[in-house]
Amino acid sequence: MKSFRTLDDAGVKGKRVLVRVDLNVPMHDGKVSDATRIKEIAPTITELADRGGRIILLSHLGRPKGPDPKSSLKPVAAEVAKIIKRPVAFAADCVGPKAQAAIAAMKDGDVLCLENTRFHPEEEQNDKEFARKLAALGDVFVEDAFSAAHRAHASITAIVTESDLPAYPGRAMKAELEAIERAFERPEHPVTAIVGGAKVSTKLELLGNLLAKVETLIIGGAMANTFLVAQGKAVGKSLYEAELVQTASDIMAKARSLGRELVLPVDAVVATKLADNVPSRVVSVDAVGATDMILDIGPLTVEHVISVLARTKTLVWNGPFGAFEHEPFDNGTIEVAEAAAELTAAGKLVSFAGGGDTVAVLNAAAVTDRLTHVSTGGGAFLEALEGKTLPGVKVLIVP
Ligand code: 3PG
Ligand code: MG
Repeated sequence: MKSFRTLDDAGVKGKRVLVRVDLNVPMHDGKVSDATRIKEIAPTITELADRGGRIILLSHLGRPKGPDPKSSLKPVAAEVAKIIKRPVAFAADCVGPKAQAAIAAMKDGDVLCLENTRFHPEEEQNDKEFARKLAALGDVFVEDAFSAAHRAHASITAIVTESDLPAYPGRAMKAELEAIERAFERPEHPVTAIVGGAKVSTKLELLGNLLAKVETLIIGGAMANTFLVAQGKAVGKSLYEAELVQTASDIMAKARSLGRELVLPVDAVVATKLADNVPSRVVSVDAVGATDMILDIGPLTVEHVISVLARTKTLVWNGPFGAFEHEPFDNGTIEVAEAAAELTAAGKLVSFAGGGDTVAVLNAAAVTDRLTHVSTGGGAFLEALEGKTLPGVKVLIVP
């Protein structure tokens, strides 16, 4: 088992504590439109400030090519201040005189946010020199950006490897690490994974890794269509990946040889175009018409999936079942989510979910709080599920 330092042991009083957070939040009209990631890291910030640290927040936002006012963290820092209910100062650069002056003016318990690390191209190059400049701004490093931990960037990895800063996982990071461990390293069996979303191609490694670890693999979303085609079924005008039909066959064969249960849709909600509330009907997957598009799982499939969950002890979920952006094609996902939330609340299931789209549906269905753990990670959650040790986690492992 991997071992990490604990923040409980970090001496932070009077120290400059560099906290790498993921303030890469959705923005709309210059304002934060979804503060989930900020709420997750708020406890780490307030705890460290209450313990007398001088808290210096490091983050990227968006994918700017050099300095760009549209990607400034200034409005995000204001949102952090609102959520932690204390002032957050802002420095217009993350290294150099502006950062140094702002840090020199800090008192114990103060919080400061530095400007977007990606305004310097060296950030994404994991540049050692740049990382040393960042590291020189602090005495202690806390990594609380799980959702960015799949990036080997200067403020995430080189800042640790190129300096003597003691590195600790923050509280949110710790919760994510514990969830991954509980789901994969010592899960209660049987384990079921739900993998949905549009493309098999983006989830190949994931499917391979999961098959080795779970008793049941449930496939949903448009990627299930590629499996249906591999089973010789007609999917009409549905989205599927012709070049991956053989791969889908191979995955089904692998599941059989490993003795794993692979669950595919048996019925579907179909329509002839994808938009909100278009006329739709439920058909067997053997009766999809030539002009039909499969847009959600049907009621028999929902029932079957829920019956699998009822005999599952640990659930790992990434990807929606249907074209959830358009009502009513979010129904299948929401019904399964409701069932997972109820089983979890009743103490019968340990449930983990993550990924941008998945979390959006779970939030819309108001079940997020009733699952065991919902990851803030999109790409990071997926890579963790693929069995990879994320670069931003690797640097935290105590040898
Ligand atoms: C994310 O939102 O996926 C992380 O913040 C990483 O951002 P990136 O995908 O732009 O590297
Ligand atoms: Mg991303």
